[in-house]
Amino acid sequence: MGQLFQKKEIFAVGGGKGGTGKSFFAVNLAIVLARGNHRTLLIDADLGGANLHTCLGIPAPESTLSDFIQSPTLRIEDVIVETPLANLRLISGAQDILDIANPKYTQKIKLIRAIQTLEIDFVILDLGAGTNYNTLDFFMVADKGILVVIPEPTSIENAYRFIKSALYRKLKMLASDPQTKGIIEKAMDKKNAYGLRTPVELLDFITQENATTGEFLRREMNRFQPRIVLNQVRSLADVRIGYLMQNACRKYFGVQVDFLGYIENDDQVWQSVRKRQPITLNGGYSKITQSFQIITQNLIQGLQLKPE
Ligand SMILES: Nc1ncnc2c1ncn2[C@@H]1O[C@H](COP(=O)(O)OP(=O)(O)OP(=O)(O)O)[C@@H](O)[C@H]1O
Ligand SMILES: [Mg+2]
Repeated sequence: MGQLFQKKEIFAVGGGKGGTGKSFFAVNLAIVLARGNHRTLLIDADLGGANLHTCLGIPAPESTLSDFIQSPTLRIEDVIVETPLANLRLISGAQDILDIANPKYTQKIKLIRAIQTLEIDFVILDLGAGTNYNTLDFFMVADKGILVVIPEPTSIENAYRFIKSALYRKLKMLASDPQTKGIIEKAMDKKNAYGLRTPVELLDFITQENATTGEFLRREMNRFQPRIVLNQVRSLADVRIGYLMQNACRKYFGVQVDFLGYIENDDQVWQSVRKRQPITLNGGYSKITQSFQIITQNLIQGLQLKPE
């Protein structure tokens, strides 16, 4: 089945708030893909708190992503380790906070180029919390970016902030003239002098100043299509948050967000985390495994959850 997908697809898992289940999601998504016979590479790109090897129950690998990013001689193959599961390989993150270089954009591009040379179907980047430039850059260089959100006001708010920050960073990098870059920079500050509060307002303002640039950036904005997954869902009302976020993003940000699906809050999850045995690993049937299968299908086929 792996051969069906000729181009490798890179997924990035972020979301702003800490502890929403990004790593849990990244690991289990990787397992479902690997079990589906897709050659999958999981990369721990949380440069502040790498722990995917622990999630997978394997010892800390000697060479890590930061070694690869920093060393001019290491090849990407040198930092990839096998996992107990066929088709699933891992690049571990930095072990020590002191290891962390602040990788430049070009170093991230080096990683993405190296990934392109591998015989692999899917790559999953597990990002850290927050909206720093590293996280946003990884999110944007991916083919598909997924936000793991929990149904709590702080998580929802952080997800909006993440989407807006990623979008502004993308627009700023694409804008070639200093005037437009300056406008975007100012608009990033909520209390900006132009009174621009949303990406839609920003785009309208840029278009007034420079119609060609405005149209160009609008096209790019239309191509920005983050995905969301709701985790730790406890009720149907929680599930509706996914659709509400979708509508709000369209209305205020002018951004199409795909709601891929949801995962219930389940004691088995933290038990599995504690045992270092990812919940989808045993291959048995469970509601959580089924949710992961639906989300994975939606993700790779470009679909989304439909309201019931
Ligand atoms: N669906 C769920 N049901 C119950 N508990 C969950 C669920 N998802 C995640 N958790 C719990 O939340 C904890 C945090 O998950 P995880 O480490 O994946 O978060 P994270 O977003 O990667 O955190 P960080 O921002 O620190 O990287 C897990 O240890 C797990 O116990
Ligand atoms: Mg994590």
